[in-house]
Amino acid sequence: MDKQRKLIIAGNWKMNKTVPDAVELASQLQTDLGKVTELDVVVCPPFTALSEVSRVLRASTMRVGAQNMSEHPYGAFTGEIAAGMLKDLLVRYVILGHSERRQFQNETDALVNAKMKAALAAGLKPIVCVGETFSQREAGQTEQIVGDQLTGSLAGLDAEPMQESILAYEPVWAIGTGRTATPEQAQQVHAFIRGWLSRRFDDTTARRVRIQYGGSVKPGNARELMGQPDIDGALVGGASLDAHTFIEIVRNSL
Ligand code: PGA
Repeated sequence: MDKQRKLIIAGNWKMNKTVPDAVELASQLQTDLGKVTELDVVVCPPFTALSEVSRVLRASTMRVGAQNMSEHPYGAFTGEIAAGMLKDLLVRYVILGHSERRQFQNETDALVNAKMKAALAAGLKPIVCVGETFSQREAGQTEQIVGDQLTGSLAGLDAEPMQESILAYEPVWAIGTGRTATPEQAQQVHAFIRGWLSRRFDDTTARRVRIQYGGSVKPGNARELMGQPDIDGALVGGASLDAHTFIEIVRNSL
């Protein structure tokens, strides 16, 4: 695929897989995708399986991500996990501000911003999620909402760390619903995000930042989505829980 940016396909396992199941899935993926270098392949297991999945994927080209982290480096924050602890487990990426966390854990743009800075300070690559709800789209507010989320989540960030970061456009109405945004709908918002990056940072940054699409990505729609000029990968939920399906998505994106 003739794109300057390397595609990045990440599987977000959400709150699924026991440790043995996670090890089995990671092993199956590793057999098929463990040597892929044309694009970046990342899996994001639950915290409890990070250590074992890291071990399974250690000798492969695949990378491991977490689904969340604390904005604090350490201390009295019961139940939280710090960036440094993830680094210990050879975690390289961390999903931040997923719509499920915004919705169910009341995460705000300000909190996502603090977590992003903590992740970058620790040397983790953040995958920052933005996206509108169905009613916001219906009301014609998509760009306003996504723009506001970007403004808040990326506040105070310099161009260089931004270029290390990944954005994920995930329309809330397409997550787990089987309703994918059409490639044109997704491309339109991705182009808006790239334009926003160019205004907020500069053209180089806008050109370099990878923007994933997420929301009911499947083997059948991956190729067309990845073929869009401003779509640089996928954040895959449900379809990443089955090795065969996720492998097909990666293969169809090559
Ligand atoms: P989905 O989830 O692929 O199951 O729609 C995507 C996500 O939440 O990242």
